[in-house]
Amino acid sequence: DRVIKAALLGLGTVGTGVYKVLKSQEEEMSAKVGCKVEITRILVRNIEKAAAKVKDPSVLTNSWESILEDPEIEIVIELIGGINPAREYILQALNAGKHVVTANKDLIAVHGHELLDAAHAKKVDFLFEAAVAGGIPIIRPLKQCLAGNHMTEVMGIVNGTTNFILTKMSQEGMEFKDALALATELGYAEADPTADIEGLDAGRKVAILASVAFNSRVVFNDVYTEGIAKITSKDIHYAKEMGRAIKLLGVARNTEDGIEAYVCPMLIPSTHPLATVNDSYNAVFVHGDAVEDAMFFGRGAGELPTASAVVGDVFDVVRNILAGCSGRIGCTCYKQIPVKKMEDTHNR
Ligand code: HSE
Repeated sequence: DRVIKAALLGLGTVGTGVYKVLKSQEEEMSAKVGCKVEITRILVRNIEKAAAKVKDPSVLTNSWESILEDPEIEIVIELIGGINPAREYILQALNAGKHVVTANKDLIAVHGHELLDAAHAKKVDFLFEAAVAGGIPIIRPLKQCLAGNHMTEVMGIVNGTTNFILTKMSQEGMEFKDALALATELGYAEADPTADIEGLDAGRKVAILASVAFNSRVVFNDVYTEGIAKITSKDIHYAKEMGRAIKLLGVARNTEDGIEAYVCPMLIPSTHPLATVNDSYNAVFVHGDAVEDAMFFGRGAGELPTASAVVGDVFDVVRNILAGCSGRIGCTCYKQIPVKKMEDTHNR
């Protein structure tokens, strides 16, 4: 029986989750996708530290070249995050004809098109379902299932950490910093949680969503961001008295005079469906001319929910390899739609 070999880059929260989910799928995956997937190398910084997390520590390496130069490795799963060296690793892997799956929203929100172009040129897959809204399927639905629509709006709660913090402050009267510490402990927060708190993480996801939904090119710098650092328990209390909830919303609209893309805390009626999206849950609303409204809801952060999306991508890559149709949704054409500059866009 054929076994497809893959390498994992990074064994942090999501990397560990992917390792666990792939192990738990060992029996089922052949029937699902047609063959087994085996992780034959895992790139880590500290082999000793990582050894406790894996069954067979001999797969651990700190040499990227040993992965890049191994012709048997067909899929690279990039979960180290950040721009460098992830960008170089991904470009090198794609150029070497390897398929790449990543959860790296920082990178895609800035260099997504360069990477898609590289994948397209080599007819390999480059998938990033886990980059937006953790375990919720949203990229593939927008790209494929909803492709028959002219999409005009994508909006929702796309950061689990801030939603968790706002929920704990509102429902349990928790202090901001205690709620953040708990979110970090649960594996929701970014390595530097400022990205969550200041709305930057949500801004990156809005850029990706807008690019995919509107078949355009919106980058992180186009998105106005305002976070929740200034929200106090008092604000939450007064909002409640007014029958409102405070939620950090990400919004992208495709209007007649260009795309609007922003992230900011908003007061929403407590009867609104988004007001009931609590803890680390995310929800994304989309509006298209044919489908009208559709809503996607689920766990937006955390080890296993995010791993669920990554492994789904890996299985899709495997199906495409077996069917000889890799890169089938790799068209990189897009429309140049102007993005409206919102005042105060932070300098980055
Ligand atoms: N820090 C992110 C969040 C992780 O809280 O939503 C998932 O992208």
